[in-house]
Amino acid sequence: MSDPGSEPAVTTLFDAARAVRGRAHAPYSGFRVGAALIDEKGGVHVGCNVENAAYPEGVCAETAAIAAMVAAGGKRIRAIAVIGSGPSMTTPCGGCRQRIREFADTDTRIHLHDPATDARHSLSLEELLPLAFGPSNLKDEIR
Ligand code: THU
Repeated sequence: MSDPGSEPAVTTLFDAARAVRGRAHAPYSGFRVGAALIDEKGGVHVGCNVENAAYPEGVCAETAAIAAMVAAGGKRIRAIAVIGSGPSMTTPCGGCRQRIREFADTDTRIHLHDPATDARHSLSLEELLPLAFGPSNLKDEIR
């Protein structure tokens, strides 16, 4: 998949996110989320939310997809799609926005789905997390 912003690529990501959402472990919230991302080599990685009886130990779908990418050797997020549950559009939580920031650029597209209209919305990371703190802030400090 050469252009991660192309319509077929985005459709592939949404299809993968929707499929993995079905495997979410969400017995406490009942709120299932799936995420799929494409890395710098064209590899697609997916994740779903995995809740825990000790509530704070649960993991978001986006975080799981990022972990899958890193485990597979991927370095950069070229695009990510998220699909949740409920009547309104699921947007990444604050923590996941920061985790995406670690591996993405300010113009990386984050694709969301509005179930009310069945429309897709594409936002940049900069729109979702303005003035983000990221690896470049530490550039001169790391040796
Ligand atoms: N959740 C995600 O996995 N991603 C999001 O973007 C929003 C929230 C999960 C966390 C928790 O398991 C459930 O959705 C309800 O908050």
